[in-house]
Amino acid sequence: MADQPVVELRGVRKAFDRNEVLRGVSLGLSKGTTLAVMGGSGAGKTVLLRLCAGLIYPDAGEIRLFGQNIERLREEAMLPLRRRTGFVFQGAALFDSLSVFENVAYPLREHTSWSEGEVTDRVHRFLSLVGLPGTDSLLPAELSGGMKKRVGIARALVLEPEVVFFDEPTAGLDPTNARVVGELIAELRSGVCDTAIVVTHDVEFAGMVADQMAILHDGRFAAMGTPAEIHGSAVPAVQAFLAGELRGN
Ligand SMILES: Nc1ncnc2c1ncn2[C@@H]1O[C@H](COP(=O)(O)OP(=O)(O)OP(=O)(O)O)[C@@H](O)[C@H]1O
Ligand SMILES: [Mg+2]
Repeated sequence: MADQPVVELRGVRKAFDRNEVLRGVSLGLSKGTTLAVMGGSGAGKTVLLRLCAGLIYPDAGEIRLFGQNIERLREEAMLPLRRRTGFVFQGAALFDSLSVFENVAYPLREHTSWSEGEVTDRVHRFLSLVGLPGTDSLLPAELSGGMKKRVGIARALVLEPEVVFFDEPTAGLDPTNARVVGELIAELRSGVCDTAIVVTHDVEFAGMVADQMAILHDGRFAAMGTPAEIHGSAVPAVQAFLAGELRGN
């Protein structure tokens, strides 16, 4: 179905021991939409993103990815769905012993049986896209924070996924690099991937890339809507978040 959400959560709950992180979260992400999920440190943003991507499973509620209920899927059935998604980890999470080239090539080697020439062409295309041509042989330790983030983005996009999950893509970057990454993500929407969930506590950045925003507070969405609706929200937790009181940084 054309109007079926790419990602859909209904009443999702997730606890770690007695820590009830998510207490009933629902969302529907349509194709062509970028949703920014905001909230304070420890609000459960990373947990939510990992649930959406099927990297962890909920205690209760339903998660559908491309229309399929993912809790009931075995790992073999998850694999083709994973191939259709990209994940940019908080803190880049590059393989330290692998070169930039091999980091970006990794998903291609895992999920395709392409020739070396095809892998090389694709990796070079995506390194250029993120503004890092010619960095093939560098090791992660030789990169700046902003460069690492961009390699992480190239790796997440290299299989041309239908949806990308970005976890704090601008955290820890100086304002210039944060803007470069923000512009890159905004640009991707008109080319490589038009559907994404971007987790961030950076309101300005969210305004740059998102057409929907949601604020996670106390295990639930305190509000969800367009940036204008969120900025005009009368919900106290939203106002407190926008005023910087709940960002925890
Ligand atoms: N694997 C885990 N085991 C136990 N507790 C966990 C685990 N993962 C997350 N948590 C807990 O879940 C809560 C939410 O964590 P999460 O990483 O989602 O926060 P966050 O909103 O991403 O914060 P930040 O902005 O600092 O990245 C925290 O209390 C954290 O300690
Ligand atoms: Mg996080």
